[in-house]
Amino acid sequence: MRLGSGLGVAVLGGAICLGGTPTSGAPGNPSVSIALPADTWRYAPGPGVEAVVKDCSACHSASYVLTQPRLTRKQWTAEVAKMRNAYGAPVPESDVATIVDYLVAQHGKE
Ligand code: HEC
Repeated sequence: MRLGSGLGVAVLGGAICLGGTPTSGAPGNPSVSIALPADTWRYAPGPGVEAVVKDCSACHSASYVLTQPRLTRKQWTAEVAKMRNAYGAPVPESDVATIVDYLVAQHGKE
């Protein structure tokens, strides 16, 4: 019983405190900045790299793609199709083979 009423008081105290915060303004809410590590990954030069940079950079970084597991040609083909069909990546049909060739050469596996 004692514990229960003690908690009740604590919660009530918290509510009052929160209610007062927004009107107290900026001093209670200092801005904070964080420095993220630089993302220096780039698609390596090679045949087709221009198409990859152009078509694959709108939504995620090169590091995001290149730190994924290596894929087979079949898997890369499916991956590029998924980007186009499921996520709406604006990849022209004429770039698909070039992009798959590049990805297999740079980040493929048997
Ligand atoms: C329209 C935005 C968009 C474009 C353009 C795009 N992607 Fe993606 N990609 C996504 C989304 C969304 C995910 C899933 C992210 C998640 O699951 O958190 C993803 C995930 C991936 C993954 C991780 C594996 C997976 O299937 O989740 C790879 C690899 C990848 N994309 C490669 C590519 C390549 C190569 C291209 C260029 C042909 C490309 N993406 C272009 C939106 C895009």
